[in-house]
Amino acid sequence: MKIWITGYKGMLGHDLVKTLNNDEYDLILTDKNKVDITNFNDIEELVKEHRINIIINAAAYTDVDGSQTNKKIAYNINAMGPKNLAIISKEYDIKLIHISTDYVFNGDKNKPYTEEDETNPINYYGETKLQGEKFIKENVSKYFIIRTQWLYGVNGGNFVKTMLKLAESNNEINVVNDQFGCPTFTKYLAIAIKELITSEKYGLYNVTNSGECSWFDFAKLIFETASVHIDLNPVLTSQYPTIAKRPKYSVLSNKKWMDEGFTPLRSFKDSLNEYMELELNKY
Ligand SMILES: NC(=O)c1ccc[n+]([C@@H]2O[C@H](COP(=O)([O-])OP(=O)(O)OC[C@H]3O[C@@H](n4cnc5c(N)ncnc54)[C@H](OP(=O)(O)O)[C@@H]3O)[C@@H](O)[C@H]2O)c1
Repeated sequence: MKIWITGYKGMLGHDLVKTLNNDEYDLILTDKNKVDITNFNDIEELVKEHRINIIINAAAYTDVDGSQTNKKIAYNINAMGPKNLAIISKEYDIKLIHISTDYVFNGDKNKPYTEEDETNPINYYGETKLQGEKFIKENVSKYFIIRTQWLYGVNGGNFVKTMLKLAESNNEINVVNDQFGCPTFTKYLAIAIKELITSEKYGLYNVTNSGECSWFDFAKLIFETASVHIDLNPVLTSQYPTIAKRPKYSVLSNKKWMDEGFTPLRSFKDSLNEYMELELNKY
């Protein structure tokens, strides 16, 4: 089984490689220097060279605030990239696994979003990711689109690392307490994606760790787990403006994932515990 992972040096890409790196699979790993997913010729050349069975697209432009100003770059990578991969997948009968986001929603629902809920992104990153989804649905039928959220992992910057770093040089930290989601450890997202390799239950799925919290709740849990004592102040989003708007409540329901017989992911609290052991043992 030949699996091509784009963006393998990214946060999720790293954990996908760790999870899939065994004798069962022949992994083709590319970064943007080897294959730029916005360049169809690059893609076609690679696909012609290898008889690829599955593409996992872990490549994206993930700078949410940057997407508001670097619109062309964000659109090319997040919308045209998946389109190129969908076209090639259709042509060569390849299964395409693509990753999307909770930011396709406006966050006004106040209960977990299902795959059937209406999308309405409130920032440009979300718009580009939604367009990427649409291009995939239009161009290929053997696809999995996985919507996930609030990712953290060992490889790359993330909220947990930011909090721990801030605590080194501050006595108090303000964290927003009116945005809700579910922190998701890329290790468990990668393990979930592995299940799709042998599945033909194609379509759109929400996949996150289970549970929900605000960024403030999450920060509190991080410091408790790390036994770091710091004054943590809950603040409103309005007190902490960002270039791109964020949805207020974008928890994703994993019901479809479980109803289709896939393994539920563990709770975000258990996942954080495991991650923190890895993170704290580095020092
Ligand atoms: N991070 C989150 O909280 C979050 C939440 C929901 C959904 N997601 C989605 O989950 C997926 C993985 O996210 P992540 O956080 O692991 O992303 P990441 O760490 O930013 O990794 C993305 C990778 O894509 C590469 N890349 C960028 N442009 C490329 C191009 N034109 N061709 C090929 N590769 C390119 C990047 O390389 P360079 O670094 O060299 O540019 C990077 O290695 C993405 O689809 C993202 O939209 C993420």
